[in-house]
Amino acid sequence: MFKVENYGGAREDNYTLVIQQLKALLEGETNRIANLANASALLGQFLKDINWVGFYLLEQKELVLGPFQGLPACVRIPLGKGVCGTSAQKRETVRVEDVHQFPGHIACDAASQSEIVIPLIKDGELLGVLDIDSPSLSRFDALDQQYLEKFVEELVKYL
Ligand code: SME
Repeated sequence: MFKVENYGGAREDNYTLVIQQLKALLEGETNRIANLANASALLGQFLKDINWVGFYLLEQKELVLGPFQGLPACVRIPLGKGVCGTSAQKRETVRVEDVHQFPGHIACDAASQSEIVIPLIKDGELLGVLDIDSPSLSRFDALDQQYLEKFVEELVKYL
């Protein structure tokens, strides 16, 4: 059974703990949907002040909605469109302090104010993106980016 931690330490330590939890959760399992579902649930119970966390997976030239936690969301995002499509096209993390200032931002949940999107790249191949939305402006800083990139680096080993 999954053990709920209280994540009471320093932010770095909490992220290190959640990455350990991720490895423990995914160890021995190769089903991509199961692993992405558990990864989104793990982040959903770990991250404070977020309203959406989940994955979009690359299919031809589109990102298609994958496992997530939050309100129902738009299903297909063309490469290069929105924050997700931009991150996927550039193959780099995009951190948006205020989504209303991001040209082409796709609003799935009206509550979202800031967002971070991290590409999932395995052996040089783009698999999709991790997308996290917050109802607060500037919710994600450089430390979040650094550790969420580490989280994704671990996660792709199990995809
Ligand atoms: N805001 C994203 C769309 C996905 S939802 O936030 C879940 C974007 O602009 O790509």
